[in-house]
Amino acid sequence: MVNTEGKFNLVVKTFKGLEDVLFNELKALGATDIKKGNRMVELKGDKAMMYKANFHLRTALRVLKPIAEFEVANEHELYKSIQTIVWSEYFDLKNTFAVDSVVNSKEFSHSKYVALKVKDAIVDQFRENYEKRPYVDTEDPDVRISVHISNTTCTVSLDSSGESLHKRGYRIKTNKAPLNEVLAAGMILMSGWDKKSTFIDPMCGSGTLLIEAAMIANNIPPGIYRQKFGFESWKDFDNELLEQIYEEENEENDISVKIIGADISEIAIRIAKENISNASLSRKIDLHIKPIENFDPIKTRGGSGILITNPPYGERIKKNELKSFYKVLGDIFKNRFKGFEVWMLSSNFEAIKSIGLKPSNKLVLFNGALECKYLNYSIYEGSKKSKYKDLA
Ligand SMILES: C[S@@+](CC[C@H](N)C(=O)[O-])C[C@H]1O[C@@H](n2cnc3c(N)ncnc32)[C@H](O)[C@@H]1O
Repeated sequence: MVNTEGKFNLVVKTFKGLEDVLFNELKALGATDIKKGNRMVELKGDKAMMYKANFHLRTALRVLKPIAEFEVANEHELYKSIQTIVWSEYFDLKNTFAVDSVVNSKEFSHSKYVALKVKDAIVDQFRENYEKRPYVDTEDPDVRISVHISNTTCTVSLDSSGESLHKRGYRIKTNKAPLNEVLAAGMILMSGWDKKSTFIDPMCGSGTLLIEAAMIANNIPPGIYRQKFGFESWKDFDNELLEQIYEEENEENDISVKIIGADISEIAIRIAKENISNASLSRKIDLHIKPIENFDPIKTRGGSGILITNPPYGERIKKNELKSFYKVLGDIFKNRFKGFEVWMLSSNFEAIKSIGLKPSNKLVLFNGALECKYLNYSIYEGSKKSKYKDLA
């Protein structure tokens, strides 16, 4: 899987709906041979590209390096094929490891069983060669092995990220229903925000969208807060190369864009404050304890700009109350956010209808297992009032 230029295949995993944004991020990073797939993007890159992908990509969950691919018809063939890989090239007896597997196949229906078979084949190979075995650590292994079986094609990869890349390292505390960092970054990048106009999340919860927005505007790489990447435990780890990437690629812009967050809950704002401070962004984000019903972007000196938010979806609110809350939201957007591009993520399709504004763009995203609509409302200035296309 390696070609003569020291380049190899890489598979970058993401959430459904974020493939285009990830593709563009990779292009901007200088990657070549980029190909979009389902919840992933493939590319060719060298070791530096692999390190950079982990360090810079905001919409990547994991960066996998495939090391073998074979056809397998049953578990016996799987075991045999896994044993053709010389595992001591990748790790030693002193290292811990873990196997994750994803299967989409008639022949192999249980992913846990596949992972177990692969683990056995690896352990048995070490035992045969060294009379000792390396140990499994599912929580914090040195080396993560990822096995993907699609019908009868089995791809074995090393996971260069280790812990999922959404775990940036700045979040100490979570409030109820926090957005995944990768999803939040994807939402901001998809909105086409110019990184200069005011950014507001008036229902900011633990502050994920605010933090990701501040990082994007100031060109702060998402990997900067991470303690460790998976590839740092690999035999071929090049510390100098990683340090070079940290130094060269980390040209932060010190931007004075206004980033404003508010929430009705005092606890949520306290948590947001802690996370923001942990990300060293306190100077760049203003927070207010305030219900959106009292939020006025003029009073908070927001001016015009972009509003991106994920309001409550209704898990804890009665159906009718949520509908009337969304109606209020629509009125607030229309009357107080003139000149703003409003983007809202919600899984409550019934309540969305009560907003009473016609979206100029409608996208589908997933918040965990929840299918969501990501809606854009362009709120025009008074003179263009006819463009509101009120539905109410
Ligand atoms: C789904 S959560 C947002 C989660 C957030 N994006 C995060 O990553 O932590 C919705 C938030 O809306 C807040 N909220 C509910 N009603 C509100 C209101 N009337 N005004 C302002 N915030 C409100 C809740 O306190 C909650 O923090």
